[in-house]
Amino acid sequence: MRDGRIILLMGAPGSGKGTQSSLLESQFGFTCISTGAMLREEARQDTSAGFRLRQIMASGELVDDRTVCAAVGSQIKSLVAQSNGSGANLVLDGFPRTVEQAMCLDQLLEEIGMPGPLVLHLDVPQDVLLRRLARRRQCAVCGAIYSLASGPGFAGLSAGGGRCRIDGGTLVERDDDSEGVVSRRLAAYETATLPVLDYYRKRDFRSGIYRRLDGNRNAAEIAKEVCDIVLFFADTAVAA
Ligand code: AP5
Repeated sequence: MRDGRIILLMGAPGSGKGTQSSLLESQFGFTCISTGAMLREEARQDTSAGFRLRQIMASGELVDDRTVCAAVGSQIKSLVAQSNGSGANLVLDGFPRTVEQAMCLDQLLEEIGMPGPLVLHLDVPQDVLLRRLARRRQCAVCGAIYSLASGPGFAGLSAGGGRCRIDGGTLVERDDDSEGVVSRRLAAYETATLPVLDYYRKRDFRSGIYRRLDGNRNAAEIAKEVCDIVLFFADTAVAA
């Protein structure tokens, strides 16, 4: 059995998965895979696959399991291989989103000899999600996530200057953050992804661990808690 666990950041649209991934990468050295960012990149291509993805994502529906599982599976295998097979500190943002995807991940982890995932559920009330998505801005070049909100309760990147602090790119609204599409994304979360949380809640230690986190707090505070939980379970996995 390999050391470490795959960490799943789960939560509704706007719950802060992308913000946490980026804090975990920049401040704690985790490697993150974001399926949303991967698919957006693919959707920008001038190909028939790119066109199909643009249509699905613009509608707020989920991309089919086969496409997503193939893309994430090959990324995980290559990153685990690069980390000398340990697979420690690999965070998945936005995957799995269906029970079929969760089963596909189980199969992959078994294949590469890793224990079940550490599932961290960022729980945020719906009115807060809607407010956050309406205020989100993203760098048109690198995809860094910003907010029109600011102040001590936030601790993410503030969109105040209108330009990305990393590369000076323009900050824009995401195409799927319009009101109509947001409600379809939330509906897809309730129908397809909430059952995935149930799927993980019933697990034992070896086959996976589920933790609910209060996602309606300062972003840096959440990242610190995520990091503490991950380190605790990584140590426990090594010792087990
Ligand atoms: P994806 O990009 O993953 O979108 P999502 O799940 O809807 O999540 P978001 O990116 O909207 O929100 P987030 O939780 O990352 O929040 P963020 O950190 O940005 O997926 C897009 C599409 O791709 C899907 O609709 C689907 O079509 C497809 N797709 C992706 N994965 C798929 C899969 N596995 N299967 C099938 N299809 C898939 O934060 C939001 C805002 O809040 C920001 O402005 C941020 O600054 C702010 N904020 C963050 N944290 C805090 C905080 N603690 N306090 C205050 N403000 C905060």
